[in-house]
Amino acid sequence: LDNGLGQTPPMGWNSWNHYTCDINETVILSNAKAMEEAGLLELGYNYIVMDDCWSKRERDPETGEIVPDPEKFPHGIESMIEEIHNMGFKFGMYSSAGKYTCAGYPGSLDHEEIDAKKFADWKIDYLKYDNCFNQGRSGTPLISYKRYEAMSEALNKTGRPIFYALCQWGEDQVWNWASTVANSWRITGDIYDSFNRYDIRCPCETYDCPSLQGYHCSIMNIVNKAAPLVQKTGPNSGWSDMDMLEIGNGGMTYDEYITHFTMWAVLKSPIFLGNDVSNMTPDHLELVSNPDVIAVHQDVSAPANRMWKKPFGDGYVHLFSGSLSNGDWVVAVINEANVPLVEMSILFSDIFIDNRDNTKFVWNIKDLWTKETTTAARHLTADVAPHGTQVWRLQKATHNSYNYYWVGH
Ligand code: DGJ
Repeated sequence: LDNGLGQTPPMGWNSWNHYTCDINETVILSNAKAMEEAGLLELGYNYIVMDDCWSKRERDPETGEIVPDPEKFPHGIESMIEEIHNMGFKFGMYSSAGKYTCAGYPGSLDHEEIDAKKFADWKIDYLKYDNCFNQGRSGTPLISYKRYEAMSEALNKTGRPIFYALCQWGEDQVWNWASTVANSWRITGDIYDSFNRYDIRCPCETYDCPSLQGYHCSIMNIVNKAAPLVQKTGPNSGWSDMDMLEIGNGGMTYDEYITHFTMWAVLKSPIFLGNDVSNMTPDHLELVSNPDVIAVHQDVSAPANRMWKKPFGDGYVHLFSGSLSNGDWVVAVINEANVPLVEMSILFSDIFIDNRDNTKFVWNIKDLWTKETTTAARHLTADVAPHGTQVWRLQKATHNSYNYYWVGH
């Protein structure tokens, strides 16, 4: 969507994964404060998004407007948003392209203009727009498009720049039409704090999603869904949203969270923390603060491509590679197996499939987690913990590199 927003995928915090409906002014403000104090705002996490369950059950019978719940927000939504703005954040609001939100609060379907106007009066900067209770107005791309287009136009009419995030769970091939109306679009059902459990079901990993309430997608379900869709996203179109993060919510190991964070960055999903930020462990905070990984995520370039996925041990190894705006490359290797991957050779000819010339050079490489630097010619050597991901940034070596290669060849 050409509204001047979302040249790179947004970053921030969202209330849903940790708090679900249990939100109020204190929860939102204390997480914003914790984000700021932890240095996350400075690192680019600049959106605070309040998800479902913020309003009263009924619209105001006189004005027809949605009314914030006065018990949850005793000082009103506006003053909370102002406080968040004063800390230096942008504020994200939530509604649904349905009669109700998923939790049964008033949705904005057929009330797009009045709600968009109110949201703009409150000075919101982002709108997450869900898909529950859509009155059967889905099932074909065109019918879904109409519902989401209506809010896009209403937001546009307010004159306020508002990042517009669709939450249609990948229904009706949303990736084929969303970029004309929105800045980002969810591609799966809800994330589940698990690496690759098989006793839960994410039907949309392999085919287009039916209605997805109640379905849960593991990290690898979502990576597998996102990988073939990268062609549909980029700085001039918008972003596949792989859902909010689970880091810090307790369901995965440290290495699994490394894969979670690395892949959301490399595939350029919006990155919204979904935990209780004030109770974050130092290692989880350090994980989501990795400046090198954030720099890849925030580089103005398209996501990396999956070059291959091969059986390995009791799982798979995946290779991703992508070019960055300054000519550097990013390469990631996921080890989906339960056994360590040891000294696997990753050929330059697999990394630079459409850039054969690049295979002739020597590259300076940096492992973005261990921070080790070295040089490489012809191949990289991957060593990846079970369920972990190794990721490097590659920079062409300038010092006699061409000669070095040909001499050594
Ligand atoms: C479904 C969405 O996919 C979730 O991210 C969350 O917004 C809930 N609805 C809220 O009810």
